[in-house]
Amino acid sequence: MIVSEAMEKLIEDQEGWTRKMFEAAIEMKRTYGLDNVYDFSLGNPNVEPPPALLKRLIEMLSDPTPGLHRYMPNNGYDDVRERIASYLSAHYSLPFTAQHVFMTVGCAGGINTVLKAMLNRGDEVIVPNPFFWEFKNYIENHGGVMRLVDTDDQFQLDVGAIGDAITDATKAILINSPNNPTGAVYTEESLRALADLLYRQREKGRVIYVIADEAYRKIVYSDCVLPNLYGIYDYVISVTSHSKDLALPGERIGYIAISPNVPDYQLLVSGLMIAIRALGFVNAPALFQRVASEFQENSVSIAEYEKKRDFLYETLMEAGFECVKPKGAFYMFPKSPVPDELEFVMAMQQQERVLVVPGRGFGKAGYFRIAFCVPMEMIERARPGFLRVGQRYARKG
Ligand SMILES: Cc1ncc(COP(=O)(O)O)c(C=O)c1O
Repeated sequence: MIVSEAMEKLIEDQEGWTRKMFEAAIEMKRTYGLDNVYDFSLGNPNVEPPPALLKRLIEMLSDPTPGLHRYMPNNGYDDVRERIASYLSAHYSLPFTAQHVFMTVGCAGGINTVLKAMLNRGDEVIVPNPFFWEFKNYIENHGGVMRLVDTDDQFQLDVGAIGDAITDATKAILINSPNNPTGAVYTEESLRALADLLYRQREKGRVIYVIADEAYRKIVYSDCVLPNLYGIYDYVISVTSHSKDLALPGERIGYIAISPNVPDYQLLVSGLMIAIRALGFVNAPALFQRVASEFQENSVSIAEYEKKRDFLYETLMEAGFECVKPKGAFYMFPKSPVPDELEFVMAMQQQERVLVVPGRGFGKAGYFRIAFCVPMEMIERARPGFLRVGQRYARKG
């Protein structure tokens, strides 16, 4: 067979509901036109990068200095990493140096580079559930085993359950806050409880690392502050990107920031250097390293996302849905008013032309995800549909 057995299995897994849903969505867009289908299924922001960044990009492209398009150190340009390190030092009040920063091919490339460098075959990585489905692929890519642990009813960490899931094979916990798909931001209190748990493991002679997917680090709403994880736990490896905060997902740029408190970080960096080559990335894109490093303080308008969050959340409440109000990212994860959320998602699609993703795509059946990184006008036009399905299902549920 042309594909491996493992890939055949992954393809089969995708053939079920995903295929059914996406084919129905394509058909619907063809029949009713793009404007009459309300597509909340993708985390692909509809906003543009900051104008100043685009202007700087043009200047950089016109720079005649020789050598700007050549290979470079695998961890990225020295001056780029220095610039980011000084931003991180000021922001987190910790002595980051260029050695703690490693430029990556987006957050996805960054997490894979970290896992490639860190995991032995059979090492376990704890992942709070619901979760960004790709984590399973990323962990298994490198011989790891994903251990899912349910979050509580507010989608916060259940530290007791995490403690129960720790085994001799646990190497890391991979957390994602602000979270895709729930929009939850883990509270300082829950992160401190996690740190206490992990420090108790260290007293037993074992370090469990926190790998933090911070792809949505800057998309945090005004009713919340993202806790400083570096100040809470020492063994933190954060991976972020500019896909969401600078609206550059197609440009594939991000970085790993290793806490200055990780004692053997240099060994990890040596491993990352080999991992990024072995994975075939070699280094992060040159031009976007340079431009992104100058825009660390910037982001797309969070206020615009907040308006969308508030409008959509109020709509859902009015419609009678149960939903934890997101504090960050641009997702909502309401409870399905009928037990089989796939049935409900298909009904939303057929009856109201509203496209959302069933919770089983994130490890949590019985819920569905709405990605509200779409034009406000589309949310407004979809509102009557949400209210009608609410009447039909949620109010009865
Ligand atoms: C939680 C999470 N991590 C990682 C990624 C991938 O980000 P990037 O485009 O930077 O690779 C996404 C993209 O949606 C995401 O939601």
